[in-house]
Amino acid sequence: MTRPQSRRDFIWNFSRVMGVAGAYTAMEALGLVAEAGPYAGPPEVGNMLGAGRRVVILGAGISGLVAAHELKKAGYTVTVLEARQRPGGRVWTVRGGSVLEHDHLPPQRCQFGAGQYFNAGAARIPSVHTSVLDYCRYLGVKLETHVNESGASKFVNAKLRNGQPIDHRRVVNDIRGGVSELLSKATNRGALDAELTADDKTRLLDFLSVYGALGEGKVYEGSDRSGYQLEPTVLNAGSKPREAIPMKELIADGSIARNLVFSEGLLQQATMMQPVGGMDAIPYAFAAKLRREIMYGVRVSYLGRTEQGVRVLYDNKDGTAGSIEADYCICTLPFSVLQKLDTGLSAPVKAGVNAFKYASAGKVAWESRRFWENEEHIYGGISFVDTDSNMAWYPSNDFQARDGVLIGTYNFADQAERFAAMSWDKQFSTSRASVDQIHPGKAVQLRHPVGINWMHVPYSMGAWASESENDHPSASAVDAVLEGDGPIVFAGQHLSPIGAWMEAAIRSSHYAVAQIHDRTRAN
Ligand code: PHE
Repeated sequence: MTRPQSRRDFIWNFSRVMGVAGAYTAMEALGLVAEAGPYAGPPEVGNMLGAGRRVVILGAGISGLVAAHELKKAGYTVTVLEARQRPGGRVWTVRGGSVLEHDHLPPQRCQFGAGQYFNAGAARIPSVHTSVLDYCRYLGVKLETHVNESGASKFVNAKLRNGQPIDHRRVVNDIRGGVSELLSKATNRGALDAELTADDKTRLLDFLSVYGALGEGKVYEGSDRSGYQLEPTVLNAGSKPREAIPMKELIADGSIARNLVFSEGLLQQATMMQPVGGMDAIPYAFAAKLRREIMYGVRVSYLGRTEQGVRVLYDNKDGTAGSIEADYCICTLPFSVLQKLDTGLSAPVKAGVNAFKYASAGKVAWESRRFWENEEHIYGGISFVDTDSNMAWYPSNDFQARDGVLIGTYNFADQAERFAAMSWDKQFSTSRASVDQIHPGKAVQLRHPVGINWMHVPYSMGAWASESENDHPSASAVDAVLEGDGPIVFAGQHLSPIGAWMEAAIRSSHYAVAQIHDRTRAN
C-alpha cells in the first residue's frame, strides 16, 4: 500500500501529469481556488502510454464515458460495464415509451407524444462549465439556449398579495425600487455621513434613481419594468404601470429573496444551454465512439484487487455470471450504490466510501397544450411556489409548438422525501394542484404525468452527493477515496466540489485518468 496522499502530493502529482494548469485544476478540485481557472483540457499523453494495459470502468455515466474516451485515446484497452441498457446514468432524457423504474413504487411507462421529452436528471449547462461545452463542440452535440429565468414567470407565496401569482418582473423590480428608495432616504437624512463624502452622496443618489427607477423626490412609485396595469396601444390612449408592491410584503418570506437570486448564481445565470432534443445527446455521442467498449445490462457483483491488478465479477441480465481481470479499475458507481456492493477494498477506502451521503430530488413532468406560452406569455424560466412541488419549470425547446412538456414539480431534500413517500397518483395530484396555484384553472390541461424520485432509482440511489453541511465526508475519508486502492481509483460527481453538475463528473474523471497514467508511468 502506498502512504495516504496529502493535499500537496495530490496537487504535485496532478501538475506532473498536466502541467501548471493541471496543478491549478487540482487546487480547484480541492477547493483551494475560489474561481474557476482556465480549463486546460483532458490530460494529454499521446496514444502510446496505455498500450498493452487494460482498464475496466464501472458505470457508463458521464465520468465513465469520459474516462473510457480519454483512456482509449491514450492507447489503453478499455471495457465499460453498465447495468442499464443505455449510457448516461443520471443524464437521462425521458420520451414516450421510456420506462421509469423505482425500488419503492411500480414502474411507469411514459405516454408522451412524438417529439416530446424532458430531462429527468441533468437539464441545464452553465456557460462557465467549459469541459462540458468543449466536449459538446468536439462531439458535435448541438446546443440551444436554456432559459433559466423569465420576467413573466410567477411567484406564488401566501405572504405575497394573498398568494396570487405575481410576475417575476414585478418582484425583482419592485424590490429594487423599494431598496433604492430606502437607501436614498437614509442618504438624504445623513444616516450614511460617516461612510460617504458629499460627492459620494450625490453620485449614489443619481445611481439609485436610475437603478431603482425612482420618480420625483426619489420615491419609487412603480415602473413599467414591472409591467402595465393599462397597456400602451395608440398615442393618446395613455398607459399605466402596475402599482408597486410594498417592500413589507416582498420581504415577508425569506424564500422570495432566495428564489429571486437563484438565477443570479454563477452556475445558474444567463447564458445557460441545453442540447437540442435532450441532454442524452451527450452520453449517446460518447457511446457512439465506444461501441465495442461498453457492455450494457451488466450488473457488477464484486470489485477487488488481485496480486497484479483488479478483478470484477458481474451478472448478466440472463442470469449468467462473468468476470474481468484488468490492470486498473475506475469505479464511477455512485457511492450510495458502491456502499451496498461486496468488495475487497481496503479498510480505509471502504470507510471513505461509507462516509458519503446522498441527496434526494425529484421531478414530475406533464405533457400539455402550451397554455403558459399562449395565454400567459411565459417562454422558458421558472415559477416558484410555496408548496412541496417547489416550482414549475417551462420548456426552452420548440417555442409556440402546440404541445410541450412542463415540469410541474422539481423538489429537493425534505420536500422530495415527502413526495417519494406518496403513491404516484398522489404525487401527480399534488403536482397538478401546485401548477393550478400558479396558473389558476389551467392545470386541467395537464396529461400523461411521469415522476422520478432519484433516491429510489436503481443504480443511482440518490440525486447527487449531499451538499448539506452535516453530511460532508471528513478530510480523511476524502483523502482515502481520492488516493484509491492501488490499481482501483474512483471518479464521479461526488468527488468534485463543483457539486451536482456534469462538469463535476468530467473534472473528477480527468483526475482519475491522470492517476491511471501516473501509475502506468511508475511501473
Ligand atoms: N445542477 C442541478 C440543477 O441545476 C442541481 C442543482 C440545483 C445544483 C441547484 C445547484 C443548485 O438543477
